[in-house]
Amino acid sequence: MKGMIFTEFLEMVESKFGEDMADDIIEDKPLESGGAYTAVGTYDYSELVQLIVNLSERTEVPIPDLIKAFGSYAFSRFTVAYAYFFTDVSNLFDFMQNLHGYIHVEVHKLYPEAELPYIDCQFLAPNQLQVDYQSERPFADFAEGLMTGAIEYFAEPITLKRKEGPDLNSHKASFVLTKAITS
Ligand code: HEM
Repeated sequence: MKGMIFTEFLEMVESKFGEDMADDIIEDKPLESGGAYTAVGTYDYSELVQLIVNLSERTEVPIPDLIKAFGSYAFSRFTVAYAYFFTDVSNLFDFMQNLHGYIHVEVHKLYPEAELPYIDCQFLAPNQLQVDYQSERPFADFAEGLMTGAIEYFAEPITLKRKEGPDLNSHKASFVLTKAITS
């Protein structure tokens, strides 16, 4: 996973819980990288999981809530760092349909070491888009948080619902985005 994800995560921790907390969760348990992340480096995603576990233990905030909050924060950062992905798109459904075949493809060109999920979008109705997430990494909550951030950014009357099912988990998830029909 790219270092920018780690540096953004630690910035979020600093802003929400203070600078000491960021230092503490790095020092809680030895990390393979030593915990010195640079934006251009590449690190094992399990280190991010470890940092989130440490943060959850110290703050008593459940792990899924922390990952979702980070997703939402990361999205707002992406709108600044990757502003050019937002110039031609004015609504969430178009944006989500561009994600897998364009945005993450461009991200992969920029960072060939990036590990990206499989995202598939299909309309259930004109006002309803299903988004399926699949990955070797357990970041369905991150996907949920990113989409929550995206809903806020596009400021449309859209709600997100995560599907439940025996085959759905942190590696494989389905979400339904529903736009309120305004007359
Ligand atoms: C402009 C918007 C976006 C940009 C620039 C972007 C870029 C990235 C980058 C740089 C990574 C890290 C890959 C790595 O370091 O190995 C990533 C991972 C990821 N992205 Fe996006 N992303 C965007 C929007 C979204 C949205 C809206 C979703 C929601 C479904 C999403 C889902 C994910 C997930 C879940 C991961 C974690 C890796 C995994 O689960 O396998 N991204 N993205």
